Amino acid sequence: MKKVVYINQKIKNFNKKITIPGDKSLSIRFILLASQAIGASTAYNLLNSEDVNSALSAIKKLGIDYKINNKSCTIYGKGLNGFKFKNNTVINAGNSGTLARLIFGLLINTKNQIILKGDKSLSKRDFLRVIEPMKMFGQNISSNKYKLPIKIKGTIFPRPINYVEKKGSAQVKSSILLAAMKTYGITKIKTLQSRNHTEKIFEYLKLPIKIKKEKKFDIISLKGIKNFRSFNYIIPGDISSSAFFIVLTTLTNNSKILIKNVNINKTRTGILDILKLMNVKITLKNKKVYKGELIADIFVKSSNYIKPINCPTKMNSRTIDEFLLIFLVCAKANGVSTFKKIQELRHKETDRLKFGNSFLNKIGIKTKLTHDSIKIFGNPNLKLNKTYKINKFDKDHRACMTSIIAALTLGGRWTINDIDSINTSFPNFINILKTLGAKIN
Ligand code: S3P
Repeated sequence: MKKVVYINQKIKNFNKKITIPGDKSLSIRFILLASQAIGASTAYNLLNSEDVNSALSAIKKLGIDYKINNKSCTIYGKGLNGFKFKNNTVINAGNSGTLARLIFGLLINTKNQIILKGDKSLSKRDFLRVIEPMKMFGQNISSNKYKLPIKIKGTIFPRPINYVEKKGSAQVKSSILLAAMKTYGITKIKTLQSRNHTEKIFEYLKLPIKIKKEKKFDIISLKGIKNFRSFNYIIPGDISSSAFFIVLTTLTNNSKILIKNVNINKTRTGILDILKLMNVKITLKNKKVYKGELIADIFVKSSNYIKPINCPTKMNSRTIDEFLLIFLVCAKANGVSTFKKIQELRHKETDRLKFGNSFLNKIGIKTKLTHDSIKIFGNPNLKLNKTYKINKFDKDHRACMTSIIAALTLGGRWTINDIDSINTSFPNFINILKTLGAKIN
């Protein structure tokens, strides 16, 4: 794949139907849980991307076999105590925060030590958030300032824990649930609401999970240990990848798109609700439920009048991976938009609050930034005609893809570097754009 692309013209209007590759969160969860099932589990439409490949390599290192053909991926799980690996085996999570955080939970009861590594961007990210609860279970962890590489050694007798999770992090919640699954007794988590795919799969597998919903928090309890049989899963399209096409359509005159078969789990659809509040026309068609997950086709029409938004903070975790795109829509809004308590954006593949702010300034949009908020002074007449260069974004796939959508909708002459970053979540991104008529060299 090329490392740099040049975009010198806006995309022309389109009216198309597309499908988007499988959901990344569900693909990684399928792999990790299938590795714990008894027998062969098969996934269809598993995302084929670097983060997902890192998850497959990780279970392989832990002694679990898998087979891939062009339509499916089968994992030969050996139950909750099935991992077999030599002391000081190295697992490289690459760029994947989800894999790196969730794997702690699966390693709660292992006898040998793992050395967990990641790429340059992942090695800058915080692991205290998982180290703290894992140590309470009794896991032995050593790290330099809570950063990768980290040495992890399980305990033969993990203790169930009571934990309050206040960041709204699904990765932390899920690592605790995976550890709890391998721990005798009842683990309780009070957690700020976040994406709930792990809970949905646990319910589908009939693991003894109880969930009580409060206003902002979920109180979750899980009783370990219960083995479970292998299972199959058809992974629906990823809403976070669909989001690039939703915003592309929103910002391109006289255009329409139908995105087929997307996971529209309520904990992920902040982008749809925010854009609707901003006057974007979005309709959901063919809704159905699959293994507890809601799936639909998303229909979007371009919008020639975009309202600004004072974004309710309850949307934050439901929108966590889509804020850069929403900031881009705010650049064209008719007024000032405000986002508060979004400090978690500073802990992603790059500091997305900083990137978003300097990106908006680069395209001539005034902003006001604090450590946890941003105000965006929109300009409905925004048209670009200068030269723009995007680099130094820690190879953050979402920063890269958002820049491409900006280039295709706002005009100007763009050079966008580190395009290979897209391979972590959406290798097919540029090809799908080209089917819509985008000129990308
Ligand atoms: C993810 C959770 C989110 C999200 C990430 C995927 C997951 O991270 O940003 O891309 O699959 O659990 P946090 O849980 O840290 O917010």
